[in-house]
Amino acid sequence: METPRTSPTFFILLLSLSSLSVFSVSFSPIDNYLVDCGSNVDAAVDNRLFISDSSRANSHVLTSPSRSKSIQVRNQNPRLPQIYHSARVFDRPSKYVFKIRDRGTHMVRLHFYQLNSSKFVSDDAQFHVLVNEYVVLSNFSGCSNPSVKEFLIWVDTEKLVTTFVPAKKSKFAFVNAIEVISAPKDLILDTAQFINGDKIENFDGLTKQALAVMYRVNVGGLKVTPFNDTLWRTWLPDDEFLKSSDGLERVYFSGRIRYQSGGASREVGPDNVYNTARVVASKNASILNLNMTWEFPVMEGYKYLVRLHFCDIASISLGLLFFNVYVNGNLVYKDLDLSVLAGYSLASPFYADFVAEGDHSGVLSVSVGPSNRSLGYAVDGILNAVEIMRMNKSRGILDGELCSGLILKSWPRGNIGVLVPFIAAVCLLLSLSVFMHRRVRNSVAWSKLPMDVPEFSSKLGKQQISVKL
Ligand SMILES: *[C@@H]1O[C@H](CO)[C@@H](O)[C@H](O)[C@H]1NC(C)=O
Ligand SMILES: *[C@@H]1O[C@H](CO)[C@@H](O)[C@H](O)[C@H]1NC(C)=O
Ligand SMILES: *[C@@H]1O[C@H](CO)[C@@H](O)[C@H](O)[C@H]1NC(C)=O
Ligand SMILES: *[C@@H]1O[C@H](CO)[C@@H](O)[C@H](O)[C@H]1NC(C)=O
Ligand SMILES: *[C@@H]1O[C@H](CO)[C@@H](O)[C@H](O)[C@H]1NC(C)=O
Ligand SMILES: *[C@@H]1O[C@H](CO)[C@@H](O)[C@H](O)[C@H]1NC(C)=O
Ligand SMILES: *[C@@H]1O[C@H](CO)[C@@H](O)[C@H](O)[C@H]1NC(C)=O
Repeated sequence: METPRTSPTFFILLLSLSSLSVFSVSFSPIDNYLVDCGSNVDAAVDNRLFISDSSRANSHVLTSPSRSKSIQVRNQNPRLPQIYHSARVFDRPSKYVFKIRDRGTHMVRLHFYQLNSSKFVSDDAQFHVLVNEYVVLSNFSGCSNPSVKEFLIWVDTEKLVTTFVPAKKSKFAFVNAIEVISAPKDLILDTAQFINGDKIENFDGLTKQALAVMYRVNVGGLKVTPFNDTLWRTWLPDDEFLKSSDGLERVYFSGRIRYQSGGASREVGPDNVYNTARVVASKNASILNLNMTWEFPVMEGYKYLVRLHFCDIASISLGLLFFNVYVNGNLVYKDLDLSVLAGYSLASPFYADFVAEGDHSGVLSVSVGPSNRSLGYAVDGILNAVEIMRMNKSRGILDGELCSGLILKSWPRGNIGVLVPFIAAVCLLLSLSVFMHRRVRNSVAWSKLPMDVPEFSSKLGKQQISVKL
């Protein structure tokens, strides 16, 4: 009342502050490389600009694909994102090197779509991919549908190097696009629960394991595309993994998801993931004797990070939802009480990380069902999303049998990578001998080094120019 004239200003200030805060919550990564491989022009996909790897801005990124070729994929289906219209093809080990400013976990996404060109037959694509010292793909041949392979890699060096190695001299490697993005610090925490038979133990050092995303599933909901995800991920519907949907219900929540500190952040899972779920719900006083079970094909010999996302969007009030959670048939949560875990708030997201071994059954199962504390006339089990990531085994292997050192060694000798240091050494010796010679003649006069070295590298530079077919 005393300062009526300030109130509009105050409101404007409030408005601009709130819009600012909305703006600042969206995650902006320090390292953010989006590379469109083999293309001459940049590609915009879902409001993100993938920079051509032959552009000046990326000249430092593509380092050693000497004689690499860029090709335009011939079936340029206009419905395919533009990054799949071109690819870069390598007939020898080749690298992209990314300068890292933000040490920590990085999301590395590699895009593949089968080649269709007169020069390259898809059948001849067979290659290994390394990210730093990790083998992330081996004996890989691409995908018949546009696909993205995602890896979470801890980087504490100044560079992240992706290396493409053809499996044999007669084979080639290719890639359509690459993303290297620093992850939010809270995306992968260091400790998870390790399921060791009946026992649950701590698994420490999770952050520093390399992870390959195998499944990212939005339970009960639709596909979530990079356009609608806070970290440009893709979440698929769960139908193909659900064992039986008998007696289950899907729920959809149109209200606001209440992110709280201590729970899952919006980067861990976006609203579109938490606002759908499947539930077991008892319609009368007797509690349904029913589990929801999902099964994911996995490989024996690897450990898997299993991240389960919960958000009570289905109960009518707090304190009514209790359920059990099983991973591979082991009880990992008894009488889980989301009201307590999610900070006494409905629609507040919470996630839990477990580490489980892939066993001889070839599947990893997740079940959610009523517990001894479940109540009638209430929701007796809920799940909103699941992520399953394969963890590197010893020697940094995420795929195949060989470690990165052996893969690089197995490439036939005589390639440019061996030649360059050799020629450089010869040049150095030559220039040294010239220098010594001069020095003997006139030890005071200073002279320029011979120009052979730069000339050599400019020849190399010409060789690196990509060939368009
Ligand atoms: C490859 O391109 C040719 C010519 O454009 C087209 O006829 C053929 O269907 C394409 N193949 C695939 C697998 O898309
Ligand atoms: C993004 O989400 C909104 C709301 O859920 C949906 O209508 C839209 O189709 C989604 N867009 C894409 C590109 O997935
Ligand atoms: C409760 O509902 C279930 C199915 O929802 C039904 O099978 C069961 O017979 C009902 N129990 C009683 C006591 O009505
Ligand atoms: C739910 O699954 C767990 C683990 O497989 C099992 O022990 C339990 O008996 C199942 N409950 C029902 C009702 O099927
Ligand atoms: C539920 O209660 C029964 C009987 O008290 C007990 O035998 C069983 O172990 C309990 N189940 C769980 C999962 O706690
Ligand atoms: C993953 O690789 C790192 C480094 O190479 C290694 O220290 C770690 O033990 C590996 N993880 C597993 C589960 O073997
Ligand atoms: C690729 O496959 C061949 C033949 O199956 C195998 O010998 C080789 O070890 C594999 N390479 C890697 C890196 O796993």
